Amino acid sequence: MNTRITQLFGIKYPIIQGGMIWCSGWELASAVSNAGGLGLIGSGSMYPDILEEQIKKCKAATDKPFGVNVPLLFPDRKEVFDLLIREKISIVFTSAGNPATWTSYQKEHGITVVHVVASVKSALKCQDSGVDAIVAEGFEAGGHNGKEETTTLTLIPLIRKAVSLPLIAAGGIATGRGMLAAFVLGAEGVQIGTRFVVSEESSAHPEFKRKIIESGDGDTFLAMKKVVPVRLLKNKFLDAVRLMEDQGASAEELKGLLGKGRAKKGMFEGEMEEGELEIGQASALINGIKPAGKIIEEIIHEFNEAKKELNEIR
Ligand SMILES: Cc1cc2nc3c(=O)[nH]c(=O)nc-3n(C[C@H](O)[C@H](O)[C@H](O)COP(=O)(O)O)c2cc1C
Repeated sequence: MNTRITQLFGIKYPIIQGGMIWCSGWELASAVSNAGGLGLIGSGSMYPDILEEQIKKCKAATDKPFGVNVPLLFPDRKEVFDLLIREKISIVFTSAGNPATWTSYQKEHGITVVHVVASVKSALKCQDSGVDAIVAEGFEAGGHNGKEETTTLTLIPLIRKAVSLPLIAAGGIATGRGMLAAFVLGAEGVQIGTRFVVSEESSAHPEFKRKIIESGDGDTFLAMKKVVPVRLLKNKFLDAVRLMEDQGASAEELKGLLGKGRAKKGMFEGEMEEGELEIGQASALINGIKPAGKIIEEIIHEFNEAKKELNEIR
């Protein structure tokens, strides 16, 4: 396939595996890159020494392009960017912050910078900051989300109209049909998270994968809007959050309930009731664990079949 996204990264298919805390280490990133997509190491859950080790392992496992996702909301960002520069990482996806803060520093070092947004306002800021491409992530997505609650179906055409940068759609895309829909709306690539959490190579705990497969529509909820909005799978912890939110809890009180290490506990250590389980609405579409390469193959096959079907409409 040939789009501005395949050209920008030098990849075969315009499928990006989203950076995901506790789920996307070198095994998943290298498997996606080896299958023709773009794998991203999710650095959000890694101290710099762990990230360095993950990068070295990823380099050993693939000779294809891969990148690193850097959420900007955590401290020590300078240390992380300097590590990426030392390791000659040429593709970085930043998220959860202002693209104006770190883009020029990365560009000075020859890095291709992509930033994740959930609104037209943030997309325009990306354009002014000199990023190379945008990920537009809608309300359906797993993980941290925009306060605006704009769905992918609405967000992609809005951003397509507002900015001329290469555009990657994210949020609710787990199939070839979903990918085709995003392309019809104006995207030139897709970023997929939830589907890859349930891959063989993801570092998510097996219990978390099992719970995702069992889930159906209505089983996720966008919570913590007073802190940072995050889409979670329903469990005891989410019930507690929703109860506190209904009772008008403050951001400080919610942060207290969240505490430290709750995401690790849920997604990585398999504590299904007290852990924080970040996942997107697309969890309802997933019914099995497969190798990442197989997932990409199936998405591309379905994309091509669905495109043919559309061509036959008169
Ligand atoms: C478990 C999980 C963890 C995530 N962690 C991050 C993260 O650390 N940084 C980030 O930019 N996005 C993160 N995301 C968002 C994904 O990169 C991706 O944009 C999103 O999952 C796309 O929507 P989908 O889940 O509907 O495929 C996470 C998503 C999930 C499901």
